[in-house]
Formats: sequence, structure tokens, C-alpha cells
Amino acid sequence: MTSIRPYPQIPIALVVPCVLLLFSADRAISGPFAPGSPVTGSTGMVATQEAHATRAAAKVLAEGGNAIDAAVCAGFTLAVTLPRAGNIGGGGFMLIHLEKTNRQTAIDYREKAPTAAHRDMFLDSKGNVDTNLSRSSRLAAGVPGTVRGLALALQQHGTISLKRAIQPAIELAEDGFIVGQDLHQSLKARPGHFKNSPAALQAYYNPDGSPPAIGSRLIQKDLARTLRTIADQGPDAFYAGPIAAAIVADMKANGGIITADDLRDYRPIIRQPVSGTYRDWKVVAMPPPSSGGIHLIQMLNILEEFPIAKYGHNSANTMHICIESMRRAYADRSRYLGDPDFTEIPTKALISKGYAKMLSEKIDLSQATPSGKVSPGLEPVEDLESNETTHFSVIDRWGNAVTNTYTLNFSYGSGIMVAGTGILLNNEMDDFSAKPGVPNAYGLLGGKRNAIEPNKRMLSSMTPTLLFKGKNHLVATGSPGGSRIITTVLQIVCNLVDHGMDIAGATAAARFHHQWFPDEVQVEPGFDPDILASLRKRSHTVKARSLMGSTQTVARINGLFFGASDPRRQGALTIGINDGGKKTRP
Ligand code: GLY
Repeated sequence: MTSIRPYPQIPIALVVPCVLLLFSADRAISGPFAPGSPVTGSTGMVATQEAHATRAAAKVLAEGGNAIDAAVCAGFTLAVTLPRAGNIGGGGFMLIHLEKTNRQTAIDYREKAPTAAHRDMFLDSKGNVDTNLSRSSRLAAGVPGTVRGLALALQQHGTISLKRAIQPAIELAEDGFIVGQDLHQSLKARPGHFKNSPAALQAYYNPDGSPPAIGSRLIQKDLARTLRTIADQGPDAFYAGPIAAAIVADMKANGGIITADDLRDYRPIIRQPVSGTYRDWKVVAMPPPSSGGIHLIQMLNILEEFPIAKYGHNSANTMHICIESMRRAYADRSRYLGDPDFTEIPTKALISKGYAKMLSEKIDLSQATPSGKVSPGLEPVEDLESNETTHFSVIDRWGNAVTNTYTLNFSYGSGIMVAGTGILLNNEMDDFSAKPGVPNAYGLLGGKRNAIEPNKRMLSSMTPTLLFKGKNHLVATGSPGGSRIITTVLQIVCNLVDHGMDIAGATAAARFHHQWFPDEVQVEPGFDPDILASLRKRSHTVKARSLMGSTQTVARINGLFFGASDPRRQGALTIGINDGGKKTRP
């Protein structure tokens, strides 16, 4: 079947899960970050959370498409094969590096609040936040941005038609694809999530209510029809045509507030990325309404004040400094970040070296600073498994790169499917601050700048990131993980830059996280107990938590491709391909 057909025409040089193989092969030629002469003929590399999407995107590269073509193809394919996070009913951010002009650009296709949204829409009669409304109802849905976002990327920087980019997604939805363990488990774990949506239950579960078995075929006819309509009629079919009509009818019938005008007027926004430096690397990342880029650079600036490499990877000193940087950055996030089209954001100050130096001077190497002293303390939050959101990265033979994170917010978003379309609605409205001082699902606090307003974009933590050193070192990375996205990307950067790891090592290394409140260091399994004891001695509260993030990273170093899909989650795949440079386009 189409969905599982191998692509014999692509000489697949390196396939993850053989990430380690990939590295040992290349390392023999030259260390990943060592100088060397550029090598020509390599076709590119793709890393996504799901194998069909990686293969579909790799095929586009092999046919001579560029990184943007491949990324857009991956984006649509993941909407079919990774329905918990891949989407056309959500939104996200794409960061693009254009090698020819050495320019980076960002496409913000984040969802926005419907026009009828208002500040207190999720408060009950007692003034408490009703999380059922903000997470599991049609009111939870922001106006989706993915379809126009991906189409804009293709129109501005791509070389293939929208039809070609969507084709694998249509085939995989129409003919079905083999259900793997990841999809099976994620559906088995949450039938209750879909309780408000007969259409979703019908799409994802057997008639007896059981999840599709591993090895069975998941066919999504409604989604196939929707995707074909977009391929035939263009993105406006989603925003002003028959798909929009279905969404609006569903909203009207079920208490939702997204209108035909909201959909028609939705536009992705081209933004200037934020950039900074970390030691001898340039860091380019997503600007607001993502908080990711600003706080990544802010934390790196603080870390630059300390000899992190000398302290060593995940040593007590390194962890302590990182934690103190995270604490301060997330405190600022709660106060200063929001939609830049609605509020003034002091970006320049937040990413300045001077501000970082000032913050670094407040860090006591021997003692944790209680978060209550960084800013007023608030209530603790539950630990949430965050399987939502997904990231993919692509670099092509010309050195163009795409790093893209997009999401429905929770796994499978609100759990609500628009009947007859196969489209899952996001629950991104929960990323707004529904009430000052009340954390969102990730325990993140927000203020006025992230309060709900009509047509405003909710603050995000998604952190698609590009790293450059000189002309021949390019890394594209990013991760899912809710509030832990920014600190996950931070650790990838430090692991590469400070600790000299290759991408596989940087990806696999145990992660930790602090977000100001709750005032605790969350640690994955795998840390040295003596190091954790040393952190406790410095008054850190250390809590064992589940695995964090799922990075998809590719790099082009001196013409050689490196990449790794995070081993933390099942089903991911990185493919590096090499056709000897035969199929080049001007
Ligand atoms: N929905 C998670 C984020 O955008 O940060």
C-alpha cells in the first residue's frame, strides 16, 4: 500500500533508529563539529516524529525539492499519521534559513482567539477557571493557522505545488497506514478524551470502542476528502470554502464561537526571528507570540557568564546555574510575554547581554534562590505528561533549512472532531492566561499581556531554533513538551556547544527543567544521585519526573549531514539521503 511502500529510488544512506550508526559512520570522516572541507553531493536530511512523514519528506528532497517543500509535505503528512499532534486544525511556527541570501525568516501560523472571545470567557459564576471549557469544549479552539501557514511557506519559498506536497497525506488518509505501538497506546490511554465527539470516536476507535490494534490499518476517509479539497482548491477552501462552512456549522450547532469571518480573516504572519550569540555560535529562534526564542537566548546569555564546559555536563554546578537561569527566565515570561501585536514586549532588553549579566550576578553558586524571592509565589500544579505538539527539521542539499514546531496543544487537542471533515480542533485557548495567578495546563503563569482578547494569539513555548557557526555549521532543532520545550532546546544547545557532544549524544542526555513555579527541579531518570544530593544541599527541591521533550535535530557540518530523532518517544525517524548530487535544480 502507498502508506508503507518503501522508496527504492532513494538511496537511503542513514536511517534512524540507526542514529548511532549514522554518527559513527560520519565521525570516522570528521568529528561533527570539527573543521573540514565541505563535501558535495549529499541530498539532505529530515527528522520527524513519525516514519511515514519522514519518508514522504525525504522523497521530496530526493526528487529535487528544497527544505521548504519537504517540510510542508511533512507537515501535512503528520496531520494524518501522527494525529495527536500533527494537524490541520491547530497552528505553529516555522523558522526558515535561506542559504542563498543567508537570511532567516519566521512564519507565525499560531492560532488566534475568535472575535467573540473575551477575557473572562473561561470563568465560572464563582470566578474560578473552568478547565473543562478551556480545554475540552469548542470554546477551547483557537482559529486554526496550519493550512494557510504551510501554504504560505510553500508559496514564498517552495518549488513544488501544494498538490504535490499534500499528495502523500491524501494517500495515507485514503488508503490507510499500519497502526504502530505509539498510535495504539496513545488512543488506548485516552478514550475519555473524545467523549464529546462522536466523530472523533468513530474516526479513531473500533465500533466496540477498542483502539485500533497494532498492525491494523487506520483509514481516515473524511480527512482524505478534506485534504484533497485543499489540494484541489487551495488553502482558501479551509478558510472560506466548503471546509470553513463545515467548521462554522459545527461551531453553531455546538456552542462554539469561531465564525466564517474569523476563518476568512485568519492570516499567518511573517516575522523577524530573534537572534543572539552563544559563545562562538549564532542562535536564531522564534519571536513572540512564542516565548521560546527570547527566553532561550536570555538563558544562554546568563550561562555565558559561567564556565559551563569546565563545570562539566550535568555536574552539580552546571545544573545549578542552568536551574537558576531557567527560574529567572520563566519569571520574566510570566510578566513580559504575549502577542506582540497587542502588547509591547521588551525583547531587546530581555535578550541583552547586559541584562543577563545583571541576572547572573544575582545567582549564588552555593544556594538556590527561592522562586518566591524572584517574584511572588503561587499555587503548585500537577505533573502533566505532555505528548502534545510535534517538531520536524529539514536541511536540503543547498543548505536551506526548516525547523518547525506545530501543535493542537494537548494530545489530540480538545478531542473534538468537526463532523465529516476528519479535522481535530485544537484547545490552544488554554495557553492564554484565563485568570491572573492561575496556571495553565503546564503550570505556566501569565499576566495581562497574555490575557484573552479577541483576535489575539496565545503565548507559546514552542522553540524552533537554528544554530550557526561560521559558514559551514548549521543545526536545526526543536521539541514538543509544553513548558519544557524551551529548557529542552537549551540543553541541546549546551550539549553541543559547551560539552562537545554529537547530536545523538546531545539528544539522548538526561534532561532537567525548572520553570520558576512550581519551585522544583524536575529531573528525568538517569541522573547521578550524588549530583542530585548536591543540588538538594543547595536547597533545590528535586522531583523525579517523566521523560521530557522529543527533539528532532538535523545538522550540516562542513557539507556532511548529521541528525537524530529523540529516542524518548516511539515511531520517530531521521533519514539522511545522498544521491551524489544528480538531481539538482537551479
Ligand atoms: N501549546 C503549547 C505551546 O504552544 O507552548
